[in-house]
Amino acid sequence: MRVAALGLILVLTSCSVFRDDAAEAEKAEALALGAEAYRDNCASCHGMDGKGTEAIPDTEQVGGPDLTLLTVRYGGDYPRKFVTHVIDGRLEIFAHGTRQMPLWGTQMDDPEAQSTLSAIVEHVETLQRAPDK
Ligand code: HEC
Repeated sequence: MRVAALGLILVLTSCSVFRDDAAEAEKAEALALGAEAYRDNCASCHGMDGKGTEAIPDTEQVGGPDLTLLTVRYGGDYPRKFVTHVIDGRLEIFAHGTRQMPLWGTQMDDPEAQSTLSAIVEHVETLQRAPDK
C-alpha cells in the first residue's frame, strides 16, 4: 500500500514537472513569435531595440518614438492595455493609421492575429529598461 502511494506521488510530481516544461516551452515560443512579429511590423519605425528611429528625409520612413521607457513613464507598471490598444487601432496614432483604417486592425479579428498581438505586447515588455542616468 505504501509503495503504491509512493508510486502515485512520483507519478503526480513528474506530471507537474512535465506540465511546467510544457508551459515553459509555450512561453518561449510566444516570446520568439513576438520578437519575429515585432521585427516584421514595428522595428522599421521603433528600432529592433525599441529605442526608436529618426524619420529619414525624402522617404516614406516615419520616425517612431522610444518604446523602452513605457514602464518608467507609467510609474513602474508596464502599460499592457495601452500597448495592446495602440497596436489593434483602438487608440488612434496618426502614424499607425486611423481607427477606420488601422495598419493592423483588419488582421486583428482572427484568433491567430490575437495571439500575434499579445506576443508583440509581451515582446515590447521585454524591451523595457530603466532610464539613463
Ligand atoms: C510607420 C511607422 C510605425 C510603425 C510601423 C509602427 N509604429 Fe508605433 N508609432 C509610430 C509613431 C510615429 C508613433 C508616435 C505617434 C504619435 O505620438 O502620434 C508611434 C507610437 C507608438 C506607441 C505609443 C508610444 C508612446 O510613447 O506613447 C506604441 C506603444 C507603438 N507605437 C507601438 C508600435 C508597435 C507595437 C508596432 C508594431 C506592431 C508599431 N508601433 C509600429 C510609428 C510606427
